[in-house]
Amino acid sequence: MNDALRWITQRRSIRQFTGDPVPREKLTAALQAAMAAPSARNLRPWSFVVVTDRPAREALAKAHPYAGFAAQAGAVIVPFGKKEGSKWFDQDMAAATENLLIAISGLGLGATWCGLDEALQDRIRPLVGTPDDLYLFALIPVGVPAEEKPARTQYDEARVHWERYQG
Ligand SMILES: Cc1cc2nc3c(=O)[nH]c(=O)nc-3n(C[C@H](O)[C@H](O)[C@H](O)COP(=O)(O)O)c2cc1C
Repeated sequence: MNDALRWITQRRSIRQFTGDPVPREKLTAALQAAMAAPSARNLRPWSFVVVTDRPAREALAKAHPYAGFAAQAGAVIVPFGKKEGSKWFDQDMAAATENLLIAISGLGLGATWCGLDEALQDRIRPLVGTPDDLYLFALIPVGVPAEEKPARTQYDEARVHWERYQG
């Protein structure tokens, strides 16, 4: 398996953390990977709030029903941007978010992509200080892993239609 495939398959959702802080250089390196993502017309609609303060992380953990583990993380990253008028916003943001997750894994850290619907965004906006017109794309707890998960591809031959859809 080549290096790129190894890094991609090693990325898993990590929800248990040691509670140790995450070095800022590693967070910056992961954000560099996020911003290397492809985007339509190279408009790069993304920005990121990075929360390391413990009480702030605890508040974020409380605000999301499926991200309670953010309290034990070393940081929480919230990719955000202006969705209005940006036709490819979701696709661009997803590309950056996946790059971010792969880089975090490659740096020996763990993370999980936690989705944000409109209601959750409304709860989280005041906690990260973003104005109402900005779209919060995800909430990503990042930390030093306290669990290990095996690499895997989940490759499914039946999902592949060579040359043409085969029913
Ligand atoms: C859009 C999206 C939303 C998700 N939301 C949550 C979430 O709220 N809480 C959580 O623990 N995991 C969440 N996940 C992580 C998935 O549960 C996880 O990616 C999936 O089970 C596959 O496991 P893996 O990431 O280890 O490959 C989300 C993933 C995506 C892509």
